Amino acid sequence: MKEEIKKINGGVKGLRGDITVPGDKSITHRAIIFSSIAEGKSRISGISLGMDCLSTVGAFKEMGIKIDIKGTEAVIEGDGFRGLKEPDNVIDVGNSGTSIRLLTGLLSAQDFISVLTGDSSIRRRPMERVISPMNLMGAKIYARENGTKAPITIIGGKLKPIDYASPVASAQVKSAIILAALQTKGKTTIKEPLLSRNHSEKMLRHYGADISAKGTTVTVTGGKPLHACDFTVPGDFSSAAFMIAAAMIMKSSRLRILNVGINPTRTGFLTALLKMGGRVKIVNKRMSGGEACADIIAENSKLKGINFPASLVPSTIDEFPIFFILAALADGVTTVKRIEELRHKESDRIAGMAEGLRKMGVKVEDGPDWIRIEGTRKLVGTAINANLDHRIAMSFSIAGLIAEGQTTIRGTECIKTSFPGFYEILKNLTGGR
Ligand code: S3P
Repeated sequence: MKEEIKKINGGVKGLRGDITVPGDKSITHRAIIFSSIAEGKSRISGISLGMDCLSTVGAFKEMGIKIDIKGTEAVIEGDGFRGLKEPDNVIDVGNSGTSIRLLTGLLSAQDFISVLTGDSSIRRRPMERVISPMNLMGAKIYARENGTKAPITIIGGKLKPIDYASPVASAQVKSAIILAALQTKGKTTIKEPLLSRNHSEKMLRHYGADISAKGTTVTVTGGKPLHACDFTVPGDFSSAAFMIAAAMIMKSSRLRILNVGINPTRTGFLTALLKMGGRVKIVNKRMSGGEACADIIAENSKLKGINFPASLVPSTIDEFPIFFILAALADGVTTVKRIEELRHKESDRIAGMAEGLRKMGVKVEDGPDWIRIEGTRKLVGTAINANLDHRIAMSFSIAGLIAEGQTTIRGTECIKTSFPGFYEILKNLTGGR
C-alpha cells in the first residue's frame, strides 16, 4: 500500500451533528467465516468494508466460497464444514490478526494444507497462543521462530476435543479453538482469565451450533452442522470511540453516533469515561442480529484522571490508544495496569502512545505492563509515525485537532484496515479544516 501522510491543523472547536460509523469489524469477520462454513445462503447487511474484513473475504474466495458484496451487503453461499477447497496459493491476511488467528483454528481441522501470512506487523505478532491449543487438539502446524510467528503452515486433519485454560483473555484465541472444536466429535471447554468479547458464542448459537457460555467458560460440542443466517451488523463501537473522544475534548461539541454495537464485552471505555466525569449517554437501545445496539450521545466534558479498573481491561482492549489521549487531557493522573497485551497489537501500543504523547508535551511513564499519564491542558502538534497501526494513526489524528500548531502523521493509509471514511467524517464535522 502506498504511504499516505496527513497534516492536521489544531484549534478545532464545536463538532456537532449525527454520524454513523462502519459496521463492526469483529462481527463482520465472524459473519463471513461462519456463513462460509454454514449450509446455504446467508445475507449479511451493514458489513465493514475495511481491509481487514476484505482479507477474510479474500481467504474464503481463495477456498472456493462464493461471496457477492454489493454496497455493504454480503451474500455468502456456504456448503458446510467440508465445502472449502484447498487454497491454490498462500493466504495473505494483510494486517488482520483476527483473520490469521481464526483461520488457524478453522483450517487445522480441514482436510488440506494451507499457508497463512500477512504484512510485517502480522509477521511480528505472537501466534503460539493459537498454535499451542491447536497442537493439544492434535493439529500439525509449522511456523517461523520455533512455532511462534507467521507464515504458518497447517497440515489440516482430524482433531480431538480439549479442555483448555487460556493464559490470556483473547477472543481471537477463544474463537480459533471454537472453530476447531466445531469440527471435532465431542465436547471442548475453554476457560479465560477474564471474559473477552463474546461475539463468536452469541453468533454461533444463531447459526445452530451447540455452544453455551457460563462466566468465563465456553462449552462447544462439535459435529452439528451450521445453517445459513441473515442479519445486520451494528456499527463498530471501537470506531465510535474515536468520535466519542473527539466530542469530549472539543469545546461546545455534541455528537450523536447512530446504531452502534454496545455488547458489554466491548464497552469498558464508556464505563471508564463515566468514572472520569465524561458526558456520554446511551439512548434508543435495541437488538440487532442477537447483539445489543443503540445511539450514543457524547458531549464536551471536563474529565478527571482515574486508576483504571483492571476488570475493564479486556472490554477496553482496542480503545486504550484513544483513551490515553483523553487521559492526557484530564485533570490529574491516570494509571492503567495489567495491559501487557497492548505490546502485542498491530504495534506496541504502550510504546507508540507513550512516545507520541511525550512529543506532544505530556508527562508519561511506562513499564512492561503499565502506563501513567499526567493530564495537561495543552497538547503541542508534532510528527507521528503510525507504524502500521490504524488505532495509533486515528488517536493522534483526534489529538491533532486540538493541539497547538500542526500534527503530521506518517502512514495513515492503515486506517483503511478498520475505518474507511474516518477523515471524511472529520472533514464534514469540522467544515473541511
Ligand atoms: C478481536 C479480538 C481482540 C481485539 C481485536 C479483535 C476479535 O484481540 O484486540 O482487535 O475480533 O476477536 P485479542 O483476541 O488478541 O485480544
